[in-house]
Amino acid sequence: MKTVLLTGATGLVGSRLLPRLVDEGHDVRALVRGEAALPPGATAVRGDLADPASLRVAVEGVDVVVHLAAFFRTGDEKAIWRANLDGTRNLLDAVREHAPQARFVMTSTGNVYDADQARPGRESDPCTPTAAYPASKLAAELLVRESGLTWSILRLPFVYGEGDGHLASMPPLVARFGLHPAHTYSVAHHRDVAAVVRLALAGTLDGRVVNVADDAPVTVLEMARLAGVELGATAEPLVDPWSGRMDPTLLRDLGFRPEVASVQQAAREGIL
Ligand SMILES: NC(=O)c1ccc[n+]([C@@H]2O[C@H](COP(=O)([O-])OP(=O)(O)OC[C@H]3O[C@@H](n4cnc5c(N)ncnc54)[C@H](OP(=O)(O)O)[C@@H]3O)[C@@H](O)[C@H]2O)c1
Repeated sequence: MKTVLLTGATGLVGSRLLPRLVDEGHDVRALVRGEAALPPGATAVRGDLADPASLRVAVEGVDVVVHLAAFFRTGDEKAIWRANLDGTRNLLDAVREHAPQARFVMTSTGNVYDADQARPGRESDPCTPTAAYPASKLAAELLVRESGLTWSILRLPFVYGEGDGHLASMPPLVARFGLHPAHTYSVAHHRDVAAVVRLALAGTLDGRVVNVADDAPVTVLEMARLAGVELGATAEPLVDPWSGRMDPTLLRDLGFRPEVASVQQAAREGIL
């Protein structure tokens, strides 16, 4: 049993991870900015990544920090950098000062990989993102790697499942993702994100950046169909065919096997 500080507990990923951490027997503190309905067994700690004093209180005595909090579903680039880079810096400072033995686990994104890569992105690939979200996450990764703490970084793909509505949000986003019938994207179910966090908590991923993805990359057309929307395929040629794809070999080599191998399995099991 560990004392865990979870940031981003009210978000799409955090709200599904939090009850699992509690069920696994951890003493979980959730950093929350306002009133939040947390599952029984979790403790709310009021705080904000922008408020270093609140972070000091939040990290005192923790064994692990699972840092999910981020800001990215917005066009406000300054706010993205503030939350993702400055906020991570504030949190790292607090951990270094008040809980230096704590393990620091941060979620990043597969969007850090270059769109014109020649194959699915690997953790060792040089990345040169320019958009604020992936660029701020990559910069935050560097802070974590150079923090002197015991750390791991989980690069998440498109995460879905358990009625989170994320698949259903795809159709309005097709202009960004493209509709080519052959263009596939890496994805992972919440259940497997939690399983990878479990490995990180156990120390299996210490000092590593790892790509997280299931076994079956999926097209936007299939994602939309699973969300109940039929979209027509584009006649445009396929460009940047490997954008949105991550190579999960390293995580497999470290022992991870997805419980939910594909969105089709999730659909069959009723856990979309
Ligand atoms: N969801 C995906 O498919 C996906 C894919 C790749 C990577 N990721 C990564 O996974 C993590 C979680 O993503 P998500 O989809 O769950 O995000 P989300 O739904 O947007 O949730 C973001 C969370 O961060 C919190 N937060 C934002 N700014 C904060 C601040 N200044 N101080 C404290 N908390 C703050 C939010 O709290 P409030 O409720 O107070 O706003 C919320 O709990 C992120 O690191 C993201 O980069 C997610």
